[in-house]
Amino acid sequence: MNTSTSSSATPSEGKTPPPLPLLRRIAVLATGGTIAGAAADATNTSGYQAGVVGVDQLLGAVPALSGVARIQPEQIASVDSKDMAMPLWTTLAQRINALLASDDIDGVVVTHGTDTLEETAYLLHLTIKSAKPVVLTAAMRPASALSADGPLNLLNAVTVAAHEASRGRGVLVAFNNRIHSARDVVKTSTYAVDAFHSPEIGALGWVQDGRVEFQRSVVRPHTVATEFVIGAKWPHVEIVASYAGVSRITVDALVAAGVRGIVVAGTGNGSIHASMQQALADAVSQGVAVVRSSRVGSGHVMRNGAAADDALGFVSAGSLNPYKARVLLMLALAAGGTGAVALQKVFDTY
Ligand code: SIN
Repeated sequence: MNTSTSSSATPSEGKTPPPLPLLRRIAVLATGGTIAGAAADATNTSGYQAGVVGVDQLLGAVPALSGVARIQPEQIASVDSKDMAMPLWTTLAQRINALLASDDIDGVVVTHGTDTLEETAYLLHLTIKSAKPVVLTAAMRPASALSADGPLNLLNAVTVAAHEASRGRGVLVAFNNRIHSARDVVKTSTYAVDAFHSPEIGALGWVQDGRVEFQRSVVRPHTVATEFVIGAKWPHVEIVASYAGVSRITVDALVAAGVRGIVVAGTGNGSIHASMQQALADAVSQGVAVVRSSRVGSGHVMRNGAAADDALGFVSAGSLNPYKARVLLMLALAAGGTGAVALQKVFDTY
C-alpha cells in the first residue's frame, strides 16, 4: 500500500481555508405595487393588478441576489400604492427602525408602488434613525410582463443597500440604474421605465453590474439628524391646486372640516389665484398652516416672490413639490411646530 501521500503534501494542505467574508444581511420589505403586479398575459403592461405577487416569488425571480447579500424577506403589505395611508407609513417606518437597530441587519430594501414612492421615501428619509442604508425600489411593468423591469431594479436596490458607500446618505431610491435621494426624486412618466428623476439637482449616482458609484452628497439633514420621530399621530393636511378660474370653495370646505394645514400647488413661483389666496389668508387667521409650493415640477418657490408671505402668514416650500411638502408639514405639526416663522425654518432646513 502506498503511504507516501501524506508525506508529499504541501504545508498548506490539510488546513482549513480561511472563511470567506460573510455577505451583508439585507431585509427586503415588500409593500405591493406594480413590481408585485400580475396581468393575464405577458404583453399587458397597463391592465394588471398591483401587489399580488408575494415577496418570496419576487426574490425567487432574481437568483443572482444570493451572490450579493443574505436576504431576510418580509411581507409588510400588499397594496397598490395609490392607496398608501398613514397607518401603513407608521408600521413601515417603525419596522425599519426596529430592524436597523439590530446588529443582524446591515440594510433595508423596500419594494413599493411607483405612484406614491416619492412620498414614502421622503417620510422615511425624515424618520429613520440609522445611518445604515435604506433603499426603495419599484417597477413600471408588472412581474408578469415581457421585459419586466422589477427584477433588475430589485437586484440593483439590494446591491446599493449592501454597499458600504451607501451608509449615511439618507433614504435612497434605486430605479433604472440610477440612485436618487429620497428628498429630490419624483415620478415623471406614467409609462416609461425611466420614470424617476431628480429635477434640477440630478441623481446621486448610479448602479450597474454590481458596481455602485455616488457622484454627489446629500446636504440637508436626514434620518438621525432630524427632529422627527415616527408616531401614530398624523395631523390633517390637504393639498389644493391653483388654476384659472379657481374658487375659494375647496379651501373654505377644508377649513370647515378642521384641517391643520393646507399645501397649495400654486402656479409658477407658487402664485395663487386672488380668490383662493384670500381664502387661504382667512385660513391662516383661523390657525391653519398654509404652505406655498408649485405645480410646475421643477425649480423652487421663493419666499415672498409671488405672494407677500410675511403679510399673509404663508410658508414657502422651497424646492419640495406639493406631495413632499405635505409630508414635511404633517411631521412638523406632529412635532408641535406652529406659526409661519417656525414652520418656515423647518422648510428652510429639510
Ligand atoms: C402602484 O403605485 O402601486 C401602482 C403603480 C406602480 O407601481 O407603477
